[in-house]
Amino acid sequence: MTDQAARLVVLVSGSGTNLQALLDAADEPGYGAEIVAVGADRTGIEGLDRAARAGVPTFVERLPDHPDRASWDAALAERIAVHKPDLVVCAGFMKIIGRPTLDAFPVVNTHPALLPSFPGAHGVRDALAYGVRVTGCTVMFADAGVDTGPIIAQATVPVLDGDDERELHERIKVVERALLVETIGRMAREGWSVTGRKVRLGA
Ligand code: GAR
Repeated sequence: MTDQAARLVVLVSGSGTNLQALLDAADEPGYGAEIVAVGADRTGIEGLDRAARAGVPTFVERLPDHPDRASWDAALAERIAVHKPDLVVCAGFMKIIGRPTLDAFPVVNTHPALLPSFPGAHGVRDALAYGVRVTGCTVMFADAGVDTGPIIAQATVPVLDGDDERELHERIKVVERALLVETIGRMAREGWSVTGRKVRLGA
């Protein structure tokens, strides 16, 4: 990208530990990205509190406050655009991003499974139920589908005998936070290119 820090808008729906990892990383000199706003689709979540504690502006755009999905999609894109982001990061944002946002900004998502296996809202539960011995996390571009965009980075996590969904997800999230921080930092500092489904970081 440029010598200036890349402007990130981060979207959250929950506890926001991935957001916190990005906030902490962005405090380090040379990370290459700053979080200019945090958006959410609901109120009363720890992710918004984390942003407030860090002094980062927040906004909330709730689907139930709109007559239909298209109206919410348009409103979300407008709220994001106010902050002029170079990159939008979905960090546990539990909604599909609509065309207005996808057409305006590059959008990166993180998912707690090794895509294309186990997309959707229950990636950890589905991987456990299938009986895989290795799972992990995926950082990918968002597209109009459910976790179908080009893959940017992945990391593996073993499934242990006796794992339940919560335990496995917590172990995945340790790896996921590091992967997200590393990937977003590299994108900000080095840029990227996408050819078909192949993503390459660096000039
Ligand atoms: C993360 O594991 C993220 O991959 C997942 O929600 C968690 C959010 O954790 N997202 C999805 O499952 C999206 N399909 P956090 O709020 O502590 O960052």
